[in-house]
Amino acid sequence: MPDSFARSSRGQRDARQWGLTRRAWAKASGFDDIDLSKPLIGIAQTWSELNHCHIHFRELAAAVKRGVWQAGGWPVEFPTISLGEFHVNPTTMLYRNLLALDTEEMIRAQELDGVVLLSSCDKNIPAQLMGAASADVPAILLTGGPMLTSRWRGQTLGACTDCRRLTEEFRAGRLSAEEYAELEDALARSPGHCMVMGTASTMAALSEALGMSLPGTAAIPAPDSRRLRLAEAVGRQIVETVRQDLKPSRLLTPAAFENAIRTLMAIGGSTNAVVHLPAIAGRLGIGLPLDLFDRLSRSTPLLVNLRPSGQFHMEDLFEAGGIPAVLRELLPLLHGDCLTVTGRTLAESVRSARVERREVIRSLEAPLAAEGGIAILRGNLCPRGAVIKQSAASPHLLRHRGRAVVFCDQDDLEARIDSPELDVRPDDVLVLRNAGPVGGPGMPEWGSIAMPKKLLEAGVRDMVRLSDARMSGTAAGTVVLHICPEAAIGGPLALVRDGDLIELDVPARTLNVCLSDEELARRRAAWRPPAPKFARGYGKLYIDHVLQADEGADFDFCRALRPPAS
Ligand code: FES
Repeated sequence: MPDSFARSSRGQRDARQWGLTRRAWAKASGFDDIDLSKPLIGIAQTWSELNHCHIHFRELAAAVKRGVWQAGGWPVEFPTISLGEFHVNPTTMLYRNLLALDTEEMIRAQELDGVVLLSSCDKNIPAQLMGAASADVPAILLTGGPMLTSRWRGQTLGACTDCRRLTEEFRAGRLSAEEYAELEDALARSPGHCMVMGTASTMAALSEALGMSLPGTAAIPAPDSRRLRLAEAVGRQIVETVRQDLKPSRLLTPAAFENAIRTLMAIGGSTNAVVHLPAIAGRLGIGLPLDLFDRLSRSTPLLVNLRPSGQFHMEDLFEAGGIPAVLRELLPLLHGDCLTVTGRTLAESVRSARVERREVIRSLEAPLAAEGGIAILRGNLCPRGAVIKQSAASPHLLRHRGRAVVFCDQDDLEARIDSPELDVRPDDVLVLRNAGPVGGPGMPEWGSIAMPKKLLEAGVRDMVRLSDARMSGTAAGTVVLHICPEAAIGGPLALVRDGDLIELDVPARTLNVCLSDEELARRRAAWRPPAPKFARGYGKLYIDHVLQADEGADFDFCRALRPPAS
């Protein structure tokens, strides 16, 4: 019996009162001695009526349980907190680390032999992977799948890329109030997560690349019956994964993270992964510097033609062969010998995958772009780096010099962005600060700064925008994010004033404010930090311990204490 079986059996076999009560209370729930002798498989349940993307998770958990029973395990469902993107204020990211703590501690405290992680909506996936990595108990991540695409007035809609696009049209006066209300009824027509290559789709894809999900998990649409059959297969597999003692620390190696980063670049994935992957890796003592993202991006072609970088939706990716077909294409650039939750290598797992629709998944020989979707910038405005999704930016703005129009925080932006008096031109650079991990707090998705109304009315749809915030993976535009260090702790972004010249050069990977070191030093001497937004409770804990974006915005006390043994 491998060590991991001993986790639950320690308590089941205990001859003292602790063992007696543990067995008695399990029997009170209807389980018998045969059940109690099996490996205990937890199902970390994030179902919530305040999280639409997880609304079908009870059915999914029931299917996982069938699989666990079939394979000789004892499945038990337990709740953790759930983060629904549109129901949590000010941002779900403020609570990602809390969900990670909840997941880690409940896996450990409940002495599970293995765990199936159920999640979908943006922050839930990285949070569960962070928690499972720290608990280091065999785990498989099962996502809930993407929503079906929507239809409205002859258009195929993808959330939330079209939520943003059509809101801009409404603000520009090109959509009536009636049409906007009608859109609300059509936008999300099934269970599941956003069906473009947003953060949820990205993190589900990266979980496959990391070897933490069964092949094919990411793209099966949420209402498709194949997802229920996948859930049963996950239930059977986790028992085997426990038998083989395939802990996250055996799968989540530096090579596996390189595979995930290359996959991120090839799918045109969300910039949020540039925060989440270092956070997951940090739980295992593995460093993922931003320069590694840039190096791998430069040598990984963009293969997947999905919105917001491209044309299609997750349903199309599913029909095209899903993430296994993408990984099969990418194999020459991947570490194919990385182990996965199935006990097979990544290369073995995707060997039989085939690309069925070449317009959705391109080949290495004929990619959509020679480089990956994300670039890392450096300069006097971002000494520790900044991120841009070049695949979703306007090509003519990738080299740009313009006047700064500065908003000191999100409240200031909301108060002035639609004002007819705002002094702004299409070639200006919008700057938002105090929206980072400490300043937000929680690094909200405010980075895709709303376009000024008067420019929208004039037909302008994109301009260069900068901030220390994040942006939704479903958003597009020439948007520089995660500027590090952030303004609230005194990063150079705090020193920019209206009218300063900003220079962005994505091909050269630079972002600078045209000010001398002496002028920056003068301004820094006069700078005072903004008042913290929390004085007690979880918010205070968060502000006091959150790391910067380049380190994954995890809590300093949650990272591994030492690097993994080689
Ligand atoms: Fe949940 Fe978009 S709102 S993934």
